[in-house]
Amino acid sequence: MSEFTDSRWADHDFSLAYRDEAGSYIPFRSRMIETAVSLYKFFIPQKGLTTVLDLGCGDGFFIDALLNDHRPTHAVLVDGSAEMLTAARQRLASRTARIDFIKASFQELLDHNPLTNAFDFIFSSLAIHHLNTEEKAALYSFIYDRLGLGGLFINFDVMLSPTANLEECYLSLWADWIKEHSNPEKIDQLLPIPEQYKDNPDNLPDTLSSQIKVLEEIGFQEVGCYLKFGIFSMFGGRKIQAPDPDISSRINKRDTLHEDSHLSS
Ligand SMILES: C[S@@+](CC[C@H](N)C(=O)[O-])C[C@H]1O[C@@H](n2cnc3c(N)ncnc32)[C@H](O)[C@@H]1O
Repeated sequence: MSEFTDSRWADHDFSLAYRDEAGSYIPFRSRMIETAVSLYKFFIPQKGLTTVLDLGCGDGFFIDALLNDHRPTHAVLVDGSAEMLTAARQRLASRTARIDFIKASFQELLDHNPLTNAFDFIFSSLAIHHLNTEEKAALYSFIYDRLGLGGLFINFDVMLSPTANLEECYLSLWADWIKEHSNPEKIDQLLPIPEQYKDNPDNLPDTLSSQIKVLEEIGFQEVGCYLKFGIFSMFGGRKIQAPDPDISSRINKRDTLHEDSHLSS
C-alpha cells in the first residue's frame, strides 16, 4: 500500500515549488481547465443545487475556475497536504458558495469515508497517479458510488505509455513544450522535470487503456478520453443508470483493498 506521508507532497518546499511553477511545466494546463469546465457545462444541468468534489485539489485552482462562470453551490476539496489546503482556503476565501475542505489522503478516504453527499461532478488532476493500480481501481469504484445519477467524473493525469519507445517520445514532447513555453531564465531548472518525473518512485502511472477498462468494468458509462498530449490525458465517465448490484468485480476490488489496509485517520 502506498502512503501519502512517504510522498514528496508531504514536504513543504516541494508543494510550494509546485504551486509557484506548475503553469510553466504542465502542458496546456489552461486548455485542460477549459475542457473540464466545458464538459461540466455540457453534462451537468445548471439546476438549483450542484455539488462538486475535487480530489487532490492542490491550491484550489480548478474549483476557482469553475466558480467563475458555472456556479456550483457546494464544493468539497480534498487533499492529503495541509499546506495545499491552506493555500486553497486562501484562494477561495472570497467565494460565497459553500466550500468544505477535508484533509485526507485517498487511502484514508477509502478507509473512513467522510463524504456523505452524492456529487454531480467529481474532478481530479495530477493526483491519482500516486496510487498503485489496485488503489486506483478502489478509488474509481469509490468515486462511482459517490456520484449521483447523471453525474460526471473527470481525471486529468499522467499515464504510463504502452511501450518504452512511446514513453521516450512523449517525454521528449513534454521537454519540447517546456522549452517553448517557459521563461528563458527558468529553463535550466524546468527542463529536467520530465526525466525527474520518470525517476520519481512517488509516480505510479497506469496506462490510459487499462484505466478506461476499469471505469467500464465498474459501471461508468459514456467513458472517454477527452484530451491528450503525450503522457497527459483527460478521461472519465458518467453514471447514468442506477448501479447493477451484480457488478461484483468492483465490490471485490474495493474489499480486497480494505483487507490490506492499515491506515489510521
Ligand atoms: C500535482 S498536485 C495537483 C494539484 C492540483 N490538482 C493541480 O492540478 O494543480 C498533486 C496533489 O495531490 C495531492 N496528493 C498526492 N497524493 C495524494 C494522496 N495519496 N491522497 C490525497 N492527496 C494526494 C498532493 O498533496 C497535491 O496537492
